[in-house]
Amino acid sequence: MTPIKAGGAEARHPVTMSEATPFARIGGAAPVRALAERFYALIDRDPVYADLRAAHGPDLAPIAASLAGFLTAWLGGPRDWFAERPGLCIMRMHRQLDFGPELAAQWATAMREALAGDPSLDTELAAQIGDALTRMAQAMAPRGEGLSR
Ligand code: HEM
Repeated sequence: MTPIKAGGAEARHPVTMSEATPFARIGGAAPVRALAERFYALIDRDPVYADLRAAHGPDLAPIAASLAGFLTAWLGGPRDWFAERPGLCIMRMHRQLDFGPELAAQWATAMREALAGDPSLDTELAAQIGDALTRMAQAMAPRGEGLSR
């Protein structure tokens, strides 16, 4: 499990950064699904996320399933989620929901907590995924006074 530190090819392309997709490295569909379910379970029960919870309807199960499908494709796995929703832009859909940076921050924090809830997940990979999703969430929320909507 010790990272390879030898020079040459390994130094430029460490084994831990192989061609495997993040989807493969996370362990495939079941861990992604579990991640989405942990994420929405946290939002459902932890009062820290109450505002984010209130932004959703009563039944989180279909949204958890949809998030799992989106993340599966986004991480480099099967792209069924996109095939089933031709033309849907997740960024535009969320911008139309018109929430602020506070909800984006709650979303990002809950996602990092859900990622940390899988002890078998490589911590570097979890951090990379958490960082990328945080940037995505921030970009979904209107920022600053310059944005009119
Ligand atoms: C920035 C903070 C976010 C907030 C406040 C938020 C809020 C919401 C809400 C309220 C819904 C339900 C919409 C409806 O009932 O039609 C939803 C759905 C969804 N969100 Fe987010 N979201 C956020 C970020 C994200 C991010 C970063 C992703 C992707 C990584 C994402 C993926 C999804 C998906 C896949 C659905 C289900 C879409 C569907 O199948 O209808 N969300 N979100």
